[in-house]
Amino acid sequence: MNLKEKDFFLHKNQYAISNNKEGEVFKRSSSNIALIKYWGKKTNTLQIPLNSSISFSLEKVFTGTKLRYHVKTPPYKKNFSVKFFFFGKKKFIFWKKILVFFYRISSYCSYLRDYHFTIETYNNFPHSSGIASSASFMSSLALCIMEMEKQLVPSLTHSFFLKKASFLARLGSGSACRSVYPGLVVWGNHKSIIGSNNLYAIPYPYKIHSIFQNLIDTILIIDETPKKILSTQGHQLMNTHPYAKERFKCANKNMDCMISILEMGDFQEFGKLIEHEALTLHAMIMTSNPYFLWMKPNTVQIIHMVWDLRIQSKKNVYFTLDAGANIHLLYPMNERLFIGKWIKHDLMFYCKKIIESICF
Ligand code: DP6
Repeated sequence: MNLKEKDFFLHKNQYAISNNKEGEVFKRSSSNIALIKYWGKKTNTLQIPLNSSISFSLEKVFTGTKLRYHVKTPPYKKNFSVKFFFFGKKKFIFWKKILVFFYRISSYCSYLRDYHFTIETYNNFPHSSGIASSASFMSSLALCIMEMEKQLVPSLTHSFFLKKASFLARLGSGSACRSVYPGLVVWGNHKSIIGSNNLYAIPYPYKIHSIFQNLIDTILIIDETPKKILSTQGHQLMNTHPYAKERFKCANKNMDCMISILEMGDFQEFGKLIEHEALTLHAMIMTSNPYFLWMKPNTVQIIHMVWDLRIQSKKNVYFTLDAGANIHLLYPMNERLFIGKWIKHDLMFYCKKIIESICF
């Protein structure tokens, strides 16, 4: 049964602060790579997507977050009390984002104003480079908050724990709601996917062919500098985009295709679909007003090299892109040796670094 927004409120009379005066929790969350992209959100709502999306969570590309808390002593201040450290250092921009996040989730987690918090976090990959660092961070923080909530409300079920964590993470960053789960994860209402909804993500509920188990995702870092157009601004541009309506229709149609591909195990069709989605996402930002180009010359160079390799070797290797210049190469585990060598010999020259991960 799908939960509604009202199910996520936790009011002051439903818990006792004395159950949990202080504590420390740690959670790790993976980044994720979308196969069908979330791009565009409903206006005048908080993080409601305009089409459904599906992603793989990425093992080995993660954020670890430690949340320490202790209850405030009188005289109470109603402000949020948060100290934040990223790799041991204060980061003002992230701290501000956390305050916005706390503000957004405060009616669902009414206890947040009652505590002092210290948040320490680290990534094992560069932030703001097109790898979804906000996704893994917001997801790990939402999981920490739910762990804390569990101490306050011990009767809370595991299923509710994950749904609310995903619901909260969404309010931090849309794609973060998918990082709560491993594997293939769906977010956004889609008529063909039972349980899919706009409020929180769910594990993909249908049959997945074995060829899609343990896919490798090699992330080719082409540009490490922070993105000039952040995804939040990019989403907004969809509200006035001349092709937006067609894009949302196309994304939902692509989701139907993806369902049958995942069942049948047609890797070529899978690859064509994810490349089409990636290039459509980039086409959207290129045709926004103002327009922008995320790709760098080396992005284009590598895309052509992938296409050439496929023609020459018939290997199953396909790419997808995020909101940035970097490339994700997806291929089955049994191609690892061949593709790994090719990346080292032919592609390394065009990359700042590479990160190998497994879609788990
Ligand atoms: C291109 O989740 O970063 O990665 O909700 O504004 O935080 P906000 O945006 P964000 O958008 C991600 C867009 C994407 C595609 C995807 O992950 O589905």
